[in-house]
Amino acid sequence: MHEPNVFKAEPTAITVEKGKTYAWCTCGLSQKNPFCDGHHKTIEGMPFKSLKFIAEEDGEVWLCNCKHTKNPPFCDGTHRQFKK
Ligand code: FES
Repeated sequence: MHEPNVFKAEPTAITVEKGKTYAWCTCGLSQKNPFCDGHHKTIEGMPFKSLKFIAEEDGEVWLCNCKHTKNPPFCDGTHRQFKK
């Protein structure tokens, strides 16, 4: 498995707190998307692991669920290619 799973072809708006650390799912298999639930650890050879980021300010951010964004963990519109 070298491509992440497309969990959903749209982002999720999340309210974050400045200074708090979040773990964004990169494999697309977490049931807590857009956040990591540790699912990647259950698959042997899984090349993905969570991406931790610290919120720079209080407010709303749009986190990628398609896992193909070029600006992780944030949505950059790449998900449009997965919409049917
Ligand atoms: S949800 Fe992945 S780029 Fe928008």
